[in-house]
This record gives sequence, structure tokens and C-alpha cells, in this order.
Amino acid sequence: MAGKKVIITGVPGVGKTTVINTAMEKIAAEGTPYQNINFGSFMFEVAAAEGLVQDRDQMRKLDRTVQKRLQKLAAEKIAAIDGNVIIDTHASVKTPNGYLAGLPEWVITAIMPDVLVLVETDNDQILVRRLSDESRVRDMEGAKSIAEHQEMNRAFAASYAMLTGCTVKIIVNADFLLDKAVEELTATLR
Ligand code: AP5
Repeated sequence: MAGKKVIITGVPGVGKTTVINTAMEKIAAEGTPYQNINFGSFMFEVAAAEGLVQDRDQMRKLDRTVQKRLQKLAAEKIAAIDGNVIIDTHASVKTPNGYLAGLPEWVITAIMPDVLVLVETDNDQILVRRLSDESRVRDMEGAKSIAEHQEMNRAFAASYAMLTGCTVKIIVNADFLLDKAVEELTATLR
């Protein structure tokens, strides 16, 4: 299918949505339109319609088989979208029973991304951002646990590259350096 497919991932609170929204504005001003697809919103639409959850933060606590069904439905819809697409999602989701692959084989091979971006930053910065965000029900975990999740995401990203041949780009979204992260993502989207 025509167009560039860029999957953007990062642990909750790293600021991936902030980076995406600003980069989208820049790239659109340059005349390269992208659609921004939030994988979690596609899942939430179905989960809420079925009465399974009231908010998006409850989804990672659902039974694994339910989460996998929701992933599959979202992937089918996203794979059918033509043109340049950004997919805002997770390399892995931290569930009460361990890490769930955000993009298992049947999802990643349906999408076939060109690039998979890992948005990362210092674990303590993520912790502070989560504590300051009152609009969400963030999991409260320490910096060590956040570090483990970021490491796991790199491992999952490598396996997605092996399955699809996509490249893996690491973008650091550090405090006071949002502009730098936005510039790197914009360059990746060009
Ligand atoms: P999703 O919609 O991706 O939510 P999330 O994980 O909470 O991610 P957000 O987009 O809210 O956080 P963010 O890190 O991008 O932070 P933000 O930009 O707001 O997923 C929701 C749910 O869907 C998941 O929990 C899961 O259940 C499900 N899901 C999704 N994909 C899935 C998949 N593939 N498989 C299975 N389930 C899936 O920024 C956070 C804060 O940081 C803000 O206050 C912001 O102002 C601040 N900030 C950002 N950048 C900076 C900076 N440079 N300096 C200082 N502060 C900054």
C-alpha cells in the first residue's frame, strides 16, 4: 500500500503524544500530510461499546485474550488505511501478568511499518511527568521499574524489525528539549 507507515512507541508518560502532535504540525506546514492514528483509541472504541471499560487506562488490566482480540480488530482497521500514517501505540504493555507484546506477529505483519520509533527519556523524568498528569490513571511504579519497561521495549522493537525489515529509531524526549525530539521525529517523517 502507498505511503509511509511510522509506528511511534514509548512508555506511558514519556511524552510521545506531545512529540507526535507538534511534529504533525511541522510536517503538515511543509506540505507532507500524515494521518495520526492512536491504536489505543481504536481498541477503546470497541472495548467501551462492549461495556468492558470506562476509561482507556483500564484496558491494560483486561484479560489477555480480550486485549489480543481488541488488538486484532484495531490492526485490521489500521492496515486498511492508505497514505502516510503515524501509529501512536506501545511496543509492549505492562499488564498485571507481565509484558504483553503491543505488536504481535499478526499485528506487525498486517501493518508492515517502514520505521518503528522508540521515544525514551530518563526514568526519573517519566516518573515526575506521570505524577504531574492528573488527567490519567497512571500506574505508580518506581524509576527501576520504568527502566525495565524501557529496556523491554528495545527488545520487542528488535523483534519487530526482524519480522518486517523496518528500521528502529530511538528519539530522546528530555526535559526542556522537546524541540530537539520534535525535530528528530519530523526528519524521520520527511
Ligand atoms: P495510549 O493512548 O498510548 O496512552 P498512554 O500509554 O498513556 O500514552 P499517552 O499518549 O497518554 O502518554 P504519552 O507518554 O504519550 O504522554 P503525553 O504526551 O501525554 O494507550 C492507552 C492504552 O491503550 C494503553 O494503556 C493500552 O491499554 C492500550 N494500547 C495502546 N496500544 C496498544 C497495543 N498495541 N496493544 C495493546 N494495548 C494497547 O505526555 C505526558 C506528560 O509529559 C504531559 O504532561 C506532557 O506535557 C509532558 N511532557 C511531554 N514531553 C515533555 C518534555 N520534553 N519535557 C517535559 N514534559 C514533557
